[in-house]
This record gives sequence, structure tokens and C-alpha cells, in this order.
Amino acid sequence: MSNLLRAAEALRRSKTVVFFTGAGISADSGIPTFRDKLTGLWVKHDPQRLETADAFRANPTLVWSWYLWRRHQVNQAKPNSAHLSIPRLADAGWDVSVVTQNIDDLHERAGSSPVVHLHGSLMDVKCFGCHRPAELSPDQLAVPLEGQLIEPPRCTRCNGRLRPGVVWFRENLPDNAWRSAVRLVRACDLLVSVGTSGVVMPAAGIPDMALAAGATVIHVNLEDVGMDGADEIMLVGPAGGVLLALLQAAGVAVLSPPGVPT
Ligand code: APR
Repeated sequence: MSNLLRAAEALRRSKTVVFFTGAGISADSGIPTFRDKLTGLWVKHDPQRLETADAFRANPTLVWSWYLWRRHQVNQAKPNSAHLSIPRLADAGWDVSVVTQNIDDLHERAGSSPVVHLHGSLMDVKCFGCHRPAELSPDQLAVPLEGQLIEPPRCTRCNGRLRPGVVWFRENLPDNAWRSAVRLVRACDLLVSVGTSGVVMPAAGIPDMALAAGATVIHVNLEDVGMDGADEIMLVGPAGGVLLALLQAAGVAVLSPPGVPT
């Protein structure tokens, strides 16, 4: 039996499904993964060097401008057929949740709920000093022009600098998000891991957590990242096409947008 048919059978047998997603699910929406080279203004920068508290301390203006630009990039992007397939499954009667490492809001805009953000959200802002959440005014969200850098606004309570509400390298995951993810993953029958390289812990341990709790794990990736366990199924290909094909093979009606292979 092909992997697609095995995966469709696992989906048909399951009731509670967790989609565990990484940067690869948003790649077809035009948001680069962490493996892609940066373009334009940011071509000289290495994201891993911009995404740390030390980088923010050393050059808050550079890091703030980088996140304003990323937020703008996400606002311009649209959910693709991979994001859109997930709520289709919920509409068809499955109990579906999303645990994502992504800081974009494309799952929410596709109509998924609940969505647990393990690495925070680009749309949130908090104070670097007192850690309280903060709101930005529309003028503070203005996109930097090419080559322009913008200083982070100040916290209205403590005058600390505002920073994006994302989890930087070497920071802990938000407790609530991690607890919700663990609860959902331990209770699911099927975990579909989509577009993640599975290298950044602790999030990368989620598929193993699902396997240990007795679930089946389907991996969807451009590359073969499956671990070949008895309860693991690897589907190689672009997330949008693969998820549409999986839903169709499981008998879920899908409307495929023009140009998306099924
Ligand atoms: N369809 C399916 N998979 C894809 C696609 C696609 N269209 N495009 C890329 N991929 C796969 C790549 O093969 C790779 O395995 O998505 C994965 C992306 O890997 P990363 O860029 O490492 O992203 P991710 O796994 O989400 O990174 C985890 O690392 O940098 C930190 O905090 C950041 O949340 C991020 C975490």
C-alpha cells in the first residue's frame, strides 16, 4: 500500500488530530523558511544573529526594524492550500488543533482554532524591561522604507524598549503554550507534522511525544525526514499539494485553488 493510502487510512481511523507545523507550511505563501537566503535590505544578515536578546541589547533599532519588516511581509501574505486544508478537516467532523512553531498568523487567517504558538507571535509586542504586553499605534507599525531603520517605541509604564512577542534563541517557551501543546499532543490519535526540520528543541520533541502516547505520526516535508518507525508515515512533497491529496484520499471534499496539484 502507498504511503498516501496508509496515511489516508490513519486519518480515517482517527478522531483527534494535531497539526504540528513549521516554516515549511508558510513557504508557499512567500514567507522564507530559516534555510532560505534573505533578500533585499536584509541580504547581509543572518536571522540567527538577529533573533536573540543579545542582538536586541546590542542593536535594538536593527532588530526592531527586522521584525517590523517581517510583520509587514506576513501581512502581505495569504494562507495557502496547506493552511486552508486544516479547517476543512475540522468542518468535516474531526477534532482538530494546531500547534505551530511559526510566528505568523496564517493558521488563524485560514480559520483554524485553537492555534497554539510555541514560539510566540509577530503580532504581539512586549516590554524588554518589565515584560508586560504592549500595543502599538498604527504609526508605530509603519513599514521601514528600503534602508531605513526605526527605533523601538518605549513602554508607557517603565520606559523600557518594546520588543516583539516572539521566543528568541536561548529563551524559554511560554509556559501556557507549552502546557497546552503537551495536553493536545498526548491526547491525539494522529499528529501531522508539516514543514519542520525538527531540530529546535523542545518543540522538535513533539512528534516523539505523540508516538510515545500511542498516536500515529504523518510527516509532510519536501525532504524525507521520517524516522521509519512502525507508526510513522512519510509524505514527501510541498505541504499544500500533499495535504489536499491526503484529505481527498480520506474522502474529505476539498476545493483546490487553481494551480495547486491534487
Ligand atoms: N512543503 C513542505 N515542507 C517544506 C516546504 C514546503 N513547501 N518548504 C520547506 N519545507 C521544509 C524544509 O525541507 C525544512 O525541513 O520545511 C522545513 C523548514 O525548516 P526550518 O526552516 O528549520 O523551520 P522550522 O522547522 O519551523 O524551524 C524551527 O527554528 O529558527 C527557529 O524558532 C525558529 O520556529 C523556528 C524553529
